[in-house]
Amino acid sequence: MSRPAVIAHRGYAGVAPENTIAAVERAVAHDETAMLEIDVRPAADGTPVVVHDERLEGTREGRPLTDATGLVRETPLEAIREARVLGTEATIPTLSELLAAVPETVGVNVELKGCGRSDLRVGESLSSAERDRRREAWRPFVERVVADCAAFGGDLLFSSFCEGAIAALRELADYATAALLWDDLEAGLEIARRYDCEAIHPPRNAIVGTELAGTAYAGLSGEPSIDVLAEAHAEGRAVNVWTATNWLQFDALAAAGVDGIVADYPGLGDRSPSR
Ligand code: G3P
Ligand code: MG
Repeated sequence: MSRPAVIAHRGYAGVAPENTIAAVERAVAHDETAMLEIDVRPAADGTPVVVHDERLEGTREGRPLTDATGLVRETPLEAIREARVLGTEATIPTLSELLAAVPETVGVNVELKGCGRSDLRVGESLSSAERDRRREAWRPFVERVVADCAAFGGDLLFSSFCEGAIAALRELADYATAALLWDDLEAGLEIARRYDCEAIHPPRNAIVGTELAGTAYAGLSGEPSIDVLAEAHAEGRAVNVWTATNWLQFDALAAAGVDGIVADYPGLGDRSPSR
């Protein structure tokens, strides 16, 4: 059985300050790292910055997300670039800065997280009129992201929970694209079919036949209504699952035959008994 590709979640958020250049430098030093996963959203002037949360304040495991406050989309770029992440010296990078730290041998999964507005219609398959409106809402930011990615020589894979982001990307560039699945698995598959996405990115509890199916995680709870792994594979799409936080989860997903695993830690595949 071939082993799944390891995708470092926010640059292995379990061992380094998420979405920072410090995390990237550590993550790419692991031979197993096929790709980095990063979250992008616009600063007030539209510049793509690498940060997961909509706001700069808040906590993660009791630590302040950053030492700044406010909505990222309303904060001047320079203030964002000075914001220290999770009580460390590491700061929030722009997308360009982060990509410059990635060797071409490692790919980057750019998750299009926000476009500068609050109502994002996460995980929804949209009506055709709404689809057009949402594509146009995302277009300016996706244009900036695509422009910043032009200098990167490694593989790029774009993903989003938002149909508008995928629609804009499909019009603007020829990059591999994945639909991120949230609570409505059928909606995610529908989006993947509509834009003929190269991949789907379901949550770990969406994989039928594993111990993880039926557990509560992210937007999904209860037994999965459909077998997204089988359906996507039958349609020729890769399946990259998020997020493995321990080797048991990694092993279950690998045994199910997924193509990639977004992992919080390096080394989760090392101890797998099925190896
Ligand atoms: O792209 C997979 C995963 O990163 C999605 O969830 O909230 O960690 O961005 P989140
Ligand atoms: Mg993400």
